[in-house]
Amino acid sequence: MFFKKQKTVVTDQLPQLDKTRIPNHVAVIMDGNGRWAKRQNLPRVAGHQRGMEVVKDITKAASDLGVKVLTLYAFSTENWKRPETEVGFLMKLPGKFFDTFVPELIEKNVRVNVMGYIDQLPADTQRAVNDAIAQTANNTGMVLNFALNYGGRAEIVTGVQQIAAQVAAGELQPEEINDATIDAALMTAPLGEFADPDVLIRTSGEMRLSNFLLWQLAYAEFVFIDEHWPEVTPAVFEKALAMYQARDRRFGGIAENQSDKK
Ligand code: FPP
Repeated sequence: MFFKKQKTVVTDQLPQLDKTRIPNHVAVIMDGNGRWAKRQNLPRVAGHQRGMEVVKDITKAASDLGVKVLTLYAFSTENWKRPETEVGFLMKLPGKFFDTFVPELIEKNVRVNVMGYIDQLPADTQRAVNDAIAQTANNTGMVLNFALNYGGRAEIVTGVQQIAAQVAAGELQPEEINDATIDAALMTAPLGEFADPDVLIRTSGEMRLSNFLLWQLAYAEFVFIDEHWPEVTPAVFEKALAMYQARDRRFGGIAENQSDKK
C-alpha cells in the first residue's frame, strides 16, 4: 500500500493580503471596548481611550494600503442610553483625538468627514469636529469618515422626508424616485462613487448590524472577527481585509465558473 506524502498543514496561518485588490470603502463597527476594559479590571472608559489610540493606528494602516474611505462607527443615535459618565467621556474623545492627530492626518493627506446629527452634540465636540474637517478639507487622500451620533433608520427617515418635500413642492414625480434619488438623500452622498462600503468589519465576535448603514451595506461583504477593538493591530486589520478578499462578490449575478456557457 502506498501513502501520499502528508502535506504540512499550518492551521493558524493568516490569509495573505493581495495589496493590488484593496477594497475602496471599508466600514468598521468598533465593538468590544467595554469588555476589553473589564477583562483587564479597568473601567469601561479605559477601553474607549485605548480604542481611540487604535483608531490612529488603523487610520494610518488603511491610508498606507490605499483604502479610499474608512468609515468608523464612533457613536450611534442609541448610545445616549449609556451612563452619563460614559457618554460624557465619549463626547470628549473627538477633541482628544483631533487635538493630537490632525498633524499626522495632514501628513498622510487624509481628509476628515463626519456623518451624523452633529448639531445635537455638545458645543465642544461640534467645534472639535468642525475644526478637523476644516483643517483637512484640502487633503486629497483617504477620507476618514466618522459616524458620530449616526443611526441608519434615522438617516433613512431624514432622507425620505427630504424626498417627500421635493415631491410636495412639485420638483419631483413619485415615479422618478430611484436608487440614485435615495443615494443622494443619505449622509454618504458626499462620498460619491465610494458611498457604499465594499466590506463591513465588526470586532469582538458580535454578528449584528446595530443600525449601521442599512441602505449602503446592501452588497457589502461582512467580516466578523473575535478581537475586541482595542486589540486590533494593523496585522489584524490586514487579516480582516484578506478574509474579504477570499469572498466571491456576485452582486446578485453568478460566478464566472458557474455559467452554462462553455
Ligand atoms: C463599542 O464598544 C464602542 C463604542 C460605542 C465607542 C467607539 C469609540 C471608539 C473606539 C473611540 C472612537 C474614537 C474617536 C476618535 C471618536 P462597547 O463599549 O459597546 O463595548 P462592549 O460591547 O464590550 O460593551
